[in-house]
Amino acid sequence: MKGVILAGGTGTRLAPFTKVINKHLLPVGPHPMIYWSVKKLENAGINDILIITHDDHLDNFKKILGNGNDLGVNITYKIQPYAGGIAHGLLYAKEFIKKEKFIFMLGDNIFEDSLLPYVKNFINQDEGAKILLKNVEDPERYGIATVNKITNQITSIVEKPQNPLSNLCVTGIYMYDDEVFEYIDYLKTSDRGELEITDINNVYISKEKLSYEALRGWWIDAGTHNSLFIANQLVYKELNKLRTDDNE
Ligand code: DAU
Repeated sequence: MKGVILAGGTGTRLAPFTKVINKHLLPVGPHPMIYWSVKKLENAGINDILIITHDDHLDNFKKILGNGNDLGVNITYKIQPYAGGIAHGLLYAKEFIKKEKFIFMLGDNIFEDSLLPYVKNFINQDEGAKILLKNVEDPERYGIATVNKITNQITSIVEKPQNPLSNLCVTGIYMYDDEVFEYIDYLKTSDRGELEITDINNVYISKEKLSYEALRGWWIDAGTHNSLFIANQLVYKELNKLRTDDNE
């Protein structure tokens, strides 16, 4: 399976740094934020990776990650010319993916779980898509899913709800079949002028082709100053634990 990481956008919530540097190149632990998505894919056996970003930052990504050799992966790059939304960015992966299932990640999501079991389950899924959920305390910030407790199916996802019906956040870890590109072609821009990934996931729900699993470990969207700080704390804690374990 191939992997796609979205790493463009405006990063306004991390201004003023994002006036001069792409959000995904800011430090999380001793590495740039994007490193963690690449490593999660590599650990799940996904070595063929496309990074989509804005033209302004492409050279910096290439300087830091190159062709991925040092990380044990093969990285190619594609430009999203403007921040037209997450689903808009995904369109730029169409040529790279062709007719395959794939995993799509938002480059500002940092998390503990290995992707391997989820990827394996998706490979065994006949068709459709799979998303990963996580319970959060601030549901107004995210895409929020409602699950029917009897059927155990997601019934709807609302983007940044003012009156959230649950605390189940849709994380930026998505798995799709190649039909996703067709669905994006029919998508209309939202009130905030973006092609929304939540609208795509709702198309899969309407076709009864969206499965889900819940992440077990910690997860964070590092897109604000506060959450970037917490992401650093979590990553350093994990690295220090690994160091202690090695010395024992
Ligand atoms: O982190 C999970 C959340 O991510 C989900 O729960 C939401 O449903 C989803 O819409 C998204 O919400 P955000 O408000 O966090 O999206 P944000 O605009 O921060 O963009 C997420 C990532 O995608 C970030 O790494 C930047 C990148 N991006 C975003 C846009 C709009 C692009 O590369 N291009 C874009 O046009």
